[in-house]
Amino acid sequence: MIVLGIETSCDETGIAVYHTENGLLSHTLFSQIEIHNEYGGVVPELASRDHIRRTIPLIKKALQNAHIDLHEIDAIAFTQGPGLAGALLVGASIANAMAFALKIPVLNIHHLEGHLLSPLLSKPAPCFPFLALLVSGGHTQLIKVKGIGQYTLLGETVDDAAGEAFDKTAKLLGLDYPGGKALAELATKGRPSCFKLPRPMRHSGDFNFSFSGLKTAVLTLIKNHEINDQMRADIALAFQEAAVDILTEKSLAALARTGLTQLVIAGGVGANIALRSRLLQETSRIGATVFFPEFQFCTDNGAMIAFAGAMRLLKQDTVRCPETMNCFTVK
Ligand code: KG4
Ligand code: ZN
Repeated sequence: MIVLGIETSCDETGIAVYHTENGLLSHTLFSQIEIHNEYGGVVPELASRDHIRRTIPLIKKALQNAHIDLHEIDAIAFTQGPGLAGALLVGASIANAMAFALKIPVLNIHHLEGHLLSPLLSKPAPCFPFLALLVSGGHTQLIKVKGIGQYTLLGETVDDAAGEAFDKTAKLLGLDYPGGKALAELATKGRPSCFKLPRPMRHSGDFNFSFSGLKTAVLTLIKNHEINDQMRADIALAFQEAAVDILTEKSLAALARTGLTQLVIAGGVGANIALRSRLLQETSRIGATVFFPEFQFCTDNGAMIAFAGAMRLLKQDTVRCPETMNCFTVK
């Protein structure tokens, strides 16, 4: 079966074609970063308008690249939520209109389920059950994944998401939106142990996270020092080390508590090299295995939505959003 995936939840228009036997046939993406850059963050109205411009041409391109005719598609998966309402409505409207015209099922996919399953697009893929650390711009969650649609939330951030903390700290350091990647690059020039930042909720005994205090600690540092370029890099490194420490320690604790031996990382912060290498090191030390999505599938993309749709279609589970994920419903 062939599933067309449409992702328009925020500032990326992602389209993909997934074949349940042959895997990913094609994927296309347009990032709106340039559009929002001058505003220092995503402008919802501009995001919706650009999704309207891009979605149909990108669908045509994805079908062409996959050598697939429109009528060969068996189902259309789209991101139902969470995300920006106007942006989501573009994908929802196009998916529903196409599915209606083609008389095929439409699959409402939870954005986080897409991220969660994205490492399964790579080889070797993890097998169920596994523990997932979901670290995106909007969420930070530890989830026990027993199978498709069987998700148990173990813990999550009580304030900022990890990606949000990277972005806000990057802004404090004068870097452009979205700052996560830029902060990681700046951190490579930092000198270790110049600044010590807190590890909030490290000893909370649960699997929840807190990142807003870390960001405030950076703000206090900046206010209290005459900051030069080298110090900016030192602070970026200190922030990244703290974030990586927290994410790693909580993930290892959750592995120990659940007895799971596979850890899956999903979401944009999963592209962070320092986090990847630390998790590789720590999981191998305890005899566990860590799986990452391909770099191009860490941030928002259509492939993860087409894949999640294909998994739901195979399960004959066409419209249900996982209850634990509590998503914004477009109906
Ligand atoms: O998963 P995603 O596309 O967004 C949501 O669904 O929310 O992730 C975007 C987030 C942004 O906060 C971005 O700064 C962060 O992922 N990010 C990174 C890196 N690349 C992207 N954070 C740290 N290091 C990176 N290399
Ligand atoms: Zn996302």
